[in-house]
Amino acid sequence: MSKPAENIAILGLQWGDEGKGKLVDLLSTNFRNVVRFQGGNNAGHTVVINGESIALHQIPCGAHHPECFLIIGSGTVLSFEVFHQELECLHKRGIDILDRLLLSDKAHIILPYHIAIDNWRESGSVAIGTTGRGIGPTYEAKAARHGVRLGDIKAANLLEKISIVYKEACLKIGSSASLPTPETVFEKLRELASPLLKCIGNAQEYLYNAWKQGESILFEGAQATMLDIDHGTYPFVTSSNCSIGGLFIGTGLPPKALNKVIGVAKAYTTRVGAGPFPSELNNSIGEQIRKAGHEFGTTTGRPRRCGWLDAIALRYACHVNGVDALGIMKLDVLDDLERIGIVNGYQTEDGKLLHTPPSSAQEWEKLEPVIEYFDGWTKPTKGAKSWSSLPTQAQKYLKAIEKIAETPIAYISTGPDREEGLFT
Ligand code: GDP
Ligand code: IMO
Ligand code: MG
Repeated sequence: MSKPAENIAILGLQWGDEGKGKLVDLLSTNFRNVVRFQGGNNAGHTVVINGESIALHQIPCGAHHPECFLIIGSGTVLSFEVFHQELECLHKRGIDILDRLLLSDKAHIILPYHIAIDNWRESGSVAIGTTGRGIGPTYEAKAARHGVRLGDIKAANLLEKISIVYKEACLKIGSSASLPTPETVFEKLRELASPLLKCIGNAQEYLYNAWKQGESILFEGAQATMLDIDHGTYPFVTSSNCSIGGLFIGTGLPPKALNKVIGVAKAYTTRVGAGPFPSELNNSIGEQIRKAGHEFGTTTGRPRRCGWLDAIALRYACHVNGVDALGIMKLDVLDDLERIGIVNGYQTEDGKLLHTPPSSAQEWEKLEPVIEYFDGWTKPTKGAKSWSSLPTQAQKYLKAIEKIAETPIAYISTGPDREEGLFT
């Protein structure tokens, strides 16, 4: 066996959209394999190359590097329609990936019925602001053991499997809903899957062999710890485990195959959809951050809610994931602020000071943030490429983040482009 490579996971530590895509793209040059292991096209990971912005939803961001082999693990859910759009988007840029792609035969397929159930539920009284991509219902079908997997596409009973999901959707939504027939879904699925059949296979075995042969593996997390179904702000979460445990479930690799965890956070906080957000700024500063950071969803275009960095949530996420080093993104977005806040405590209604997040969203909604303010910086950080070129106030702010998160910073991003940022 050759010398083992250092395998790294990139995980979101907040409520998503931290800039994972940029970091995965940057690091991919050093990796043979790049893997997505959970989530689906609820994710939107952006890479900016020479001023051109490219968002991928299911295909790993290693796609931009021709030498990277791309794997979509068993813990993911997949939309074939969106997959084809992504292939087309890459093709237009001269990138073809079909000869360096493996889709797990155990990954689940998002059917139109799952999307219909998602939207039906969201139109009711318990809306949580999902992306409407059918993610929750596809994971529900998996847990209910009537999911349809990529490996089922060639199976003789595919139509039967689709019919079970159809019947379930009719029971929920009502048979008057204009759902496509199972036959129509079956035909369309076979048509969309046909060019990809050669890419469907045993991803666990592939990854095990890659690991044993010392090939390097980069794991690309989607969503983030605060959206994790177990460890996030339940029920305002997604339906997969986006924190570290999901990596092993979603690949079939054992924990010892992973050497390092890089946690990614913005220098402030954003969240799309409903749910607790104690450091939210419902004022002109929140507006200013949204504008400066172009904080509109990559997948749905919704305006993202903006607020100060929530150090309680950040430290918690570092603990859950065993984060070795931080990537702090979008520092430049704070360039024009006079002062910058970090939430480093929550005050309960009865005057108690909390330094860890509560378990329930109801408790969380009632908390008042305790904010520590830092001076804004006297010169911009935009495009900075070295620690010494950062203004001292920004250095002080970053040092405070390291201290509160109990984790060193390995990368600081100072603009969306590949070139903008520095490894410490
Ligand atoms: P992901 O889901 O974690 O990959 O993040 P998204 O791609 O959804 O959102 C991050 C957004 O911020 C994208 O539009 C990136 O191009 C952009 N971005 C990443 N890093 C920086 C940065 O350092 N500064 C600025 N201004 N934008 C950044
Ligand atoms: P990336 O990988 C930000 C949020 C939705 C909603 C909740 C549940 O780009 O960081 P779902 O459709 O998953 O059932 O929605 O999760 N959400 C994200 N927010 N970034 C994402 O992915 C997200 N994926 C899901 O807005 O609040
Ligand atoms: Mg995103």
